Amino acid sequence: TAQPTANIGVVGLAVMGSNLARNLASREGNTVAVFNRTYAKTEELVTDHPEAQFVPASSYAEFAASLQKPRTAIIMVKAGRATDAVIDELMNVFEPGDIIVDGGNALFTDTIRREKAVGERGFNFVGMGVSGGEEGALLGPSLMPGGPDQSWVTLGPILKSIAAVAEGEPCVTHIGHDGAGHFVKMVHNGIEYADMQLIAEAYDLIRRGTGKSPAEIADIFAEWNRGELESYLIEITAEVLRQTDAATGGPLVDVIVDEAGAKGTGAWTVQTALDLGVPVSGIAEATFARSLSSHREQRDVSGGLPGPADAFTVTDVDAFVEQVRLALYASKIVAYSQGFDEIRAGAAQYGWNIDLGAVSKIWRAGCIIRAQFLNRIADAYDAEPELPVLLTAPYFVDALGRAQDAWRQIVATAAGAGIPAPAFSSSLAYYDGLRAERLPAALIQGQRDFFGAHTYRRTDKAGTFHTLWSDDR
Ligand code: ATR
Repeated sequence: TAQPTANIGVVGLAVMGSNLARNLASREGNTVAVFNRTYAKTEELVTDHPEAQFVPASSYAEFAASLQKPRTAIIMVKAGRATDAVIDELMNVFEPGDIIVDGGNALFTDTIRREKAVGERGFNFVGMGVSGGEEGALLGPSLMPGGPDQSWVTLGPILKSIAAVAEGEPCVTHIGHDGAGHFVKMVHNGIEYADMQLIAEAYDLIRRGTGKSPAEIADIFAEWNRGELESYLIEITAEVLRQTDAATGGPLVDVIVDEAGAKGTGAWTVQTALDLGVPVSGIAEATFARSLSSHREQRDVSGGLPGPADAFTVTDVDAFVEQVRLALYASKIVAYSQGFDEIRAGAAQYGWNIDLGAVSKIWRAGCIIRAQFLNRIADAYDAEPELPVLLTAPYFVDALGRAQDAWRQIVATAAGAGIPAPAFSSSLAYYDGLRAERLPAALIQGQRDFFGAHTYRRTDKAGTFHTLWSDDR
């Protein structure tokens, strides 16, 4: 048999897999074994890219034979049962010590289960979050690998060679063991949901408050993209709003059905946060806002519900737009703070040693939430790695101090005008909840003790207490 020539392999050659394989092949020194269940896709990839150092395989055995040891393969198939099927096939042809990487969108609890099962058979299993979509996979994604430490020795240099680069640093770091990488990728997506919802609320308020056209609002977002809100999502928002529809000649955004889809990673982030007891209210509101938008039958019967009597008009347009910008920035700080809180809680729950500053740095390029802003988060964790609440870092305290008056006015204005701003307003409520010296949770403890004898603690002495509430119960 021929000597194995490939130093890395990819299984699953749909869009993400073939782009990742092309990215790998484009880097000096890589020879990439490629395999797909349906061989035609493998052939197509290899024929379309004759310049690339590909070694096509038509069977799992051939794939294994073409890889140098320790064999390293990245699985890029549809998350779920397909992943388990491919892992089983690879374990049949690989040897203990080889590295199996799942680059699909797995739920982190599946990754924990898989690492245990695959590890027990002597293989290294790495669940890896891959962000940045098709373009990221091809040109440089943000990579979030978990898995055992020893796998990082082989995998690290390869992943660094294909990752996006931010300020000279590759956007990849070993996040932690087993499911840590997929957990962090999940929260990344949750934050992405919140960020998108906040931008959408800002657009809606400006449009309905000032009557500006989408193209005019595009100019506002382009302007914002030169300041502290600079980010990929703000940049593409300007482009989406500027787009004209060829069929009608009007703004494209006005002919797009206003029902937001979702692939479920936002819901995972919220479900996991509920289990961990972490209040990710911004991400939750963003996820629920998508649900509400897609319940067409409920929206159709609700159009007649009473709203405010007066029409909503803004008199000082420039001042209003600036207030919306500040409200967006403040709410964004809350959303990221909540997301990092979930990562902290997940790390504590699952025993991962996650460097939160490093996480924010690998999101600076290659992924959807990429932004300069992430440098400020990295600074905050560099200064204080155990920071209990991100938004209490001095830089963010200052930013929130500058923004809070505008934020409050915008939330009040939206409520008065009958314009839904769930992410803006829940973020503000979270902020004020954290700030409050006393919360009405004391009353809730009283209620719980009343109906269920759940007991309460006192402010003035240690211990637990129960009150005999009334004689006539
Ligand atoms: P995309 O969304 O990028 O199109 P996907 O649906 O996440 O991709 O994944 C599709 C890939 O998973 C394909 O490579 C598919 O192989 P085929 O081309 O043969 O359909 C692969 N896939 C799905 N189920 C699989 C299984 N049970 N075993 C192996 N590969 C599988």
